[in-house]
Amino acid sequence: MRMRARAALASSPVLLLLLLLVGGCAGAVYKVGDLDAWGVPPPSKPDVYKRWAKSIHFALGDSIWFLYPPSQDSVLQLAPEAFASCDLSRPVARLADGNSFFNLTAPGRAYYASGAPGHCRKGQKLWVDVPMANGTYLQPSATDLAALAPTPAADPPAGTASAPEGASASPAPRAAAAGSVVALCFALQILL
Ligand SMILES: *[C@@H]1O[C@H](CO)[C@@H](O)[C@H](O)[C@H]1NC(C)=O
Ligand SMILES: *[C@@H]1O[C@H](CO)[C@@H](O)[C@H](O)[C@H]1NC(C)=O
Repeated sequence: MRMRARAALASSPVLLLLLLLVGGCAGAVYKVGDLDAWGVPPPSKPDVYKRWAKSIHFALGDSIWFLYPPSQDSVLQLAPEAFASCDLSRPVARLADGNSFFNLTAPGRAYYASGAPGHCRKGQKLWVDVPMANGTYLQPSATDLAALAPTPAADPPAGTASAPEGASASPAPRAAAAGSVVALCFALQILL
């Protein structure tokens, strides 16, 4: 709980409220990015989305929330290869209402990018790692690892494929955190 609450509070106190009210204790809701809105990262924060995604330990059932002017942007969920090349032609899912929730319902790595022309190539993209229900992360697949290669044309150096980037959380704190969240939900139900 401590880690999850800190992550939520760091983003916004409103978010914690949202977690408790809208989430109904079923899963946390995280607003994507540390910017005002889902948009092209400013030159001062080129990797804002990558940093954001790494700062949070997601759990199965959590949701990520993209907020943006619907006339200016949209959100696509992409396959790993499409993510790597910013190929927006065949998204897994697309939301464009300006207030988009993607639900982390499957363990593994999920990829998202802006659907606005040119934005993905300007760094408006991110992935999140979702562990299994018991807190264990799946090993990234070969396509996951290929998607992270900095330059698609370059051969990956031998022996670099074993470190699952972004999957650094150990299962034990995760399980403990889940227990505390359940306890908090219980306490809230008694109070409210
Ligand atoms: C996530 O769940 C919410 C509420 O059930 C739903 O409105 C939303 O469309 C879902 N997101 C996706 C991408 O399916
Ligand atoms: C979590 O579940 C997976 C699949 O059921 C299993 O392989 C793994 O060993 C489990 N991990 C822990 C820490 O219980």
